Amino acid sequence: MPITFNKPTFVGKEFEYMQQALQGDHISGDGQFSKKSHALLEQALGVPKVLLTTSCTHALEMSALLLDLKDGDEVIVPSFTFVSTINAFVLRNAKPVFADIRPDTLNLDESRLEALITPKTRAIVVVHYAGVACEMDAIMEIANRLKIPVVEDNAHGLFGKYKGKYLGTFGVLATQSFHETKNFTSGEGGALLINDPKYIDDAEILREKGTNRSRFFRGQVDKYTWVNVGSSYLPSDMLAGFLLAQLEEREQIQNRRRDIWETYYKELGDWAEENHVQMPFVPAHCDQSYHMFYLLFPNLEKRQAAIAHLKERGVHAVFHYLPLHLSPMGEKYGGKPGDCEVTEHISDQLLRLPFYTNMTAEDQTQVIKMLKEFTV
Ligand SMILES: Cc1ncc(COP(=O)(O)O)c(C=O)c1O
Repeated sequence: MPITFNKPTFVGKEFEYMQQALQGDHISGDGQFSKKSHALLEQALGVPKVLLTTSCTHALEMSALLLDLKDGDEVIVPSFTFVSTINAFVLRNAKPVFADIRPDTLNLDESRLEALITPKTRAIVVVHYAGVACEMDAIMEIANRLKIPVVEDNAHGLFGKYKGKYLGTFGVLATQSFHETKNFTSGEGGALLINDPKYIDDAEILREKGTNRSRFFRGQVDKYTWVNVGSSYLPSDMLAGFLLAQLEEREQIQNRRRDIWETYYKELGDWAEENHVQMPFVPAHCDQSYHMFYLLFPNLEKRQAAIAHLKERGVHAVFHYLPLHLSPMGEKYGGKPGDCEVTEHISDQLLRLPFYTNMTAEDQTQVIKMLKEFTV
């Protein structure tokens, strides 16, 4: 049996909660399981308001709408990220300004951030790659001094911390993903974390088709109507039930993922050193979320050879983001080779090993054994 890169994990009560949603005759959005998921995340993270969304992409789209981005506004974003991180803002006609990353954590390089800021900069979007924090002290100092809102794309980093503070609690807004590949999943899903309360009312309206329906359901208005632009970003309560079952087991899930990550780190250390392969780096002041395990090979040829070697032996390892500034869309915005050199190298070098919560010890041992047979 091949060892896949990812497998969804069920931790116990997913189907029970979905069935309860069905039996309670409420399977559209914002039923009991959505409310419980909101409350759990608000309490666990210490966030004033959390709203489940249909994806992280949609939570990012909500962020762009809430920040009222317009034609020609500039948004700074790492080039090494998923397309949604910037696409959500480009949908509002904003212009992406691509930032390079640090070669150690693969996060936006805070030392180069200020040079990218212009009078048109309207947002800085950071990504905590692999759930290891960006240097938030430096980033927030610049953003606060220049009064530019920060949005954290925290798709990878739920329950990770920077200097003891949860990721997703630094920016005015932050976004989570509950896609199948994430630590906690509902198949597709996401959440918007609202740290600045001034966005709460608008976010509720935006997510409910531009209506004040949330206020109506709380008894704050006696009828609901169209009050602003909006769309439909709320997931079915069946999916919220599925998600809640996973969030309730967060300790068990995170502990298991930490074991898998630490086993890879311990078992591959000597082999990596002998073969000039770089291991992931987690600064001492960061508690990572154990989202993925990656390795950096010396170059593209070696990385591709390693993927092929593993594939022949039934192990599915994968690469990750291609530099956004060199994509056809990135080029349209003026991106060219050499603009973000670290991103360009890392993108060629990075390999992700199979990593999922219910990966068996036997499968992991097999992945390690097969990789160690590869000589760089
Ligand atoms: C950094 C980052 N942001 C956003 C997304 C999009 O998440 P979703 O599939 O929930 O829209 C991903 C997807 O993997 C991602 O890696």
